[in-house]
Amino acid sequence: MKMITEGDLKLLIDKDKLQEEIKKLADILNKEYQNQELYLICVLKGAVMFMTDLSKSLKMPLKMEFIRLSSYGSGFTSTGKVNAVDISLPDLNDKNVLIIEDIIDTGHTAKFLMDFIKHNFKTKSLKFCSLLDKKVKREVDIDPDYHVFEVDDKFLVGYGLDYDGYYRNLPYIGYVET
Ligand code: IMP
Ligand code: MG
Repeated sequence: MKMITEGDLKLLIDKDKLQEEIKKLADILNKEYQNQELYLICVLKGAVMFMTDLSKSLKMPLKMEFIRLSSYGSGFTSTGKVNAVDISLPDLNDKNVLIIEDIIDTGHTAKFLMDFIKHNFKTKSLKFCSLLDKKVKREVDIDPDYHVFEVDDKFLVGYGLDYDGYYRNLPYIGYVET
């Protein structure tokens, strides 16, 4: 695997823009789920930053769950195979469920997760929310109910997104020229 350093990264979305747009999404969700209990399901590890920042602006009674999936083996391309590392969830029957992802790329992860929850629970509602939507790469017929930014086909890092495990801590989103 090619080594990259922070100096190789180009800025795509800066810290302020991320925070500003996430706040706008929180406003929409606050209206949509007003006075209703909501379960946020954070898909680790990538969605951790988005989930924590978004949740701080949410006002409805809220519970947070964390599951761990992985689809990227290594390098820059999605494998299309979803690996359920830890998918233990509480009883979600009759609950409003919102899945929180960092990015929807091929769509395999989103499809897997939506199918998994539909198969195991009769939720009151089930929606999918992704910070980033890499629409051009879609292989599965699925679209997020909510997304914050639509992005081009670039390999992105930062704000939860990693390259070989690194760069999740960056407060902005950058890309590597491949
Ligand atoms: P999908 O199953 O192909 O839609 O891939 C979704 C997962 O692939 C995301 O949750 C990310 O973890 C990872 N992923 C997709 N694109 C990128 C990227 O540009 N940078 C880092 N991770 C990515
Ligand atoms: Mg992810």
